Amino acid sequence: MFKIPFLDLPPLRGAAGTVRLPGSKSISNRVLLLAALSEGRTVVRDLLASDDTAVMLDALRALGCGVARDGDTVSIVGLGGKLLAKQAQLFLGNAGTAMRPLTAALAVLAATQGGSFEVSGVPRMHERPIGDLVDALRGLGCEIDDLGNPGYPPLRLRGPSKLALDTAVRVRGDVSSQFLTALLLALPLVAERDIRIEVIGELISKPYIEITLALLARFGIEVKREGWQAFIIPAGSRYRSPGEVFVEGDASSASYFVGLGAIAATAAPIRIEGVGSESLQGDVRFIEAAAAMGADVKAGPNWLEVRRGAWPLRGLTLDCNHIPDAAMTLTVMALYADGPTTLTNIASWRVKETDRIAAMAAELRKLGATVDEGPDWIRVEPLQDWRAASIHTYDDHRVAMCFSLAAFNGLVAKAAQPVRILEPHCVAKTFPDYFETLFSVVSVNPADVPVITIDGPTASGKGTLADETARALGFGVLDSGALYRVTGLAARRAGLDLDDGKAVAALVPTLQLRFADGHVFLGQEDVSARLRAEATGLLASQVAVHPEVRQALHQLQLDFRRLPGLVADGRDMGTAVFPDAPLKVFLTASAATRAERRHKQLISKGISANIESLRADLEARDERDRTRSASPLTAAQDAQLLDNSALTIEASVDQVLDWWQQRRPF
Ligand code: DC
Repeated sequence: MFKIPFLDLPPLRGAAGTVRLPGSKSISNRVLLLAALSEGRTVVRDLLASDDTAVMLDALRALGCGVARDGDTVSIVGLGGKLLAKQAQLFLGNAGTAMRPLTAALAVLAATQGGSFEVSGVPRMHERPIGDLVDALRGLGCEIDDLGNPGYPPLRLRGPSKLALDTAVRVRGDVSSQFLTALLLALPLVAERDIRIEVIGELISKPYIEITLALLARFGIEVKREGWQAFIIPAGSRYRSPGEVFVEGDASSASYFVGLGAIAATAAPIRIEGVGSESLQGDVRFIEAAAAMGADVKAGPNWLEVRRGAWPLRGLTLDCNHIPDAAMTLTVMALYADGPTTLTNIASWRVKETDRIAAMAAELRKLGATVDEGPDWIRVEPLQDWRAASIHTYDDHRVAMCFSLAAFNGLVAKAAQPVRILEPHCVAKTFPDYFETLFSVVSVNPADVPVITIDGPTASGKGTLADETARALGFGVLDSGALYRVTGLAARRAGLDLDDGKAVAALVPTLQLRFADGHVFLGQEDVSARLRAEATGLLASQVAVHPEVRQALHQLQLDFRRLPGLVADGRDMGTAVFPDAPLKVFLTASAATRAERRHKQLISKGISANIESLRADLEARDERDRTRSASPLTAAQDAQLLDNSALTIEASVDQVLDWWQQRRPF
């Protein structure tokens, strides 16, 4: 998704259909590191393409691994435990799953082979604790320098130094399970003798350790364990690439669609492909929590199907230590419950991408909810009087995805409210096309989908203004002129009499039109360039006078009204096609300015043109569009007039966005 400052979700009314999940973040980054430490090539299929895996891949490249990417498949040629680069500065963004294990692996490698490596990240990364891991590694004999605040990245890992492998490595397990994971992934590098890792304190997020152990086993390392207290890497352990690894779908990402199904899949289920009963990931147990709240869930080996069961949902009290990430979703589901929901044992939320307890509490309150919180718990009351809210996302993908579920408030609220998600691109951390996927399975009342209409005469700059406005808002675009142009072109090619409205209208349903990435296809042919020609504009203006033709194109235009919104430009968008549009703009510019712009445009494309005759053509076309009886070119009564003769494109866009913002409830 293009980086838009906010995404407005109109009220959503229902959900059904199938989603395929992106690859699991936890599995992706563990597999990449294991492949990098192994000898030879590992082909990783269905890898998650996201910010967090991108920083890991960059780091592996910097360390000298071979990395080749082909769509969702990445092949890694590993180091076989030998450092190729002895120095590197690695920027790891906000990826805990890269920072912690790479710190451990590089500390151990630098100790045994020498070298100096710096690991750093975004400012938030430098607030996420790593001291317990650093302490454990220092206890082992690794040399680690704090380059910022002690206990936090950035760090320098250097060597050589002597490792003390004869005593147990001790690590705290009650802040982040990633510290233990990091040691488990890294210490096979030096397993000349049995290595014993002992956990201090109660180990949290145990399912993530299970993922680590299962993946280590896939790479030839069978860790022995004594409950959750001690882990032994047997002497002689060696990473062996399995050759090929398939990454399962992300179970935490599944939670949003499970929640969606529980709230809104009333007719048909939401089917989620990529995780199921055989998943390695602990977060798949989110379905038990969702079921306890009322979701009707069926599970197969690698799929889930979810429908609404109990409604309203049931409030509950739940220890969420085993599903720390997915459990965030429960706090939004709780708004649709019959009583309070209390989640306990979630202290780790406070050291994730943001302080997630504080973040969820603050944003839920903006919707109108009553929320209480403590050091390691949160309680959310159901909500009836929803407020339109602008949700801050704290650069935390899960906050953004969770709050999309608030857009179903119309199913319980007296008056349905839209929800604004700020900085929505933060979902790229784990689910770059989350919102597109969401939109593919939800239903809306078309009237709830916002439309901005931009009408005006030829060459007034409508197209550019519409495109830029749509880009800023993440909306789709309807260039209705293109529909008239393609109709004119096809009618001419078919040898029709352009004055015969009935015949031209009859042609419309037979046209095989496809719109993709700003291009228009007629059958297999990309006719975009053809459509822009002046001559085609004239054909369009001729066929556009017929009411039958306008009628034939009407539904086609309405079909563009899709989530999250539409900017439609033409002559009658505000008057005839979308008369209920909340913002209508009527754009004008003097004929002289318009002729000049058109002239420049043509010249820049290497097409010769005469400014006088262009002006005459424009005026003739305007005259026809204005004086025809069917939907003549005229400003809607409630349109905002914008003369852009003396305005830059940016200034015009800002003006339209300003008007838009004035009409929004946020
Ligand atoms: O916007 P444009 O120049 O691509 O439009 C080409 C012709 O199509 C225009 O002269 C009139 C007609 N048209 C129309 O009648 N209604 C619209 N909504 C859009 C275009």
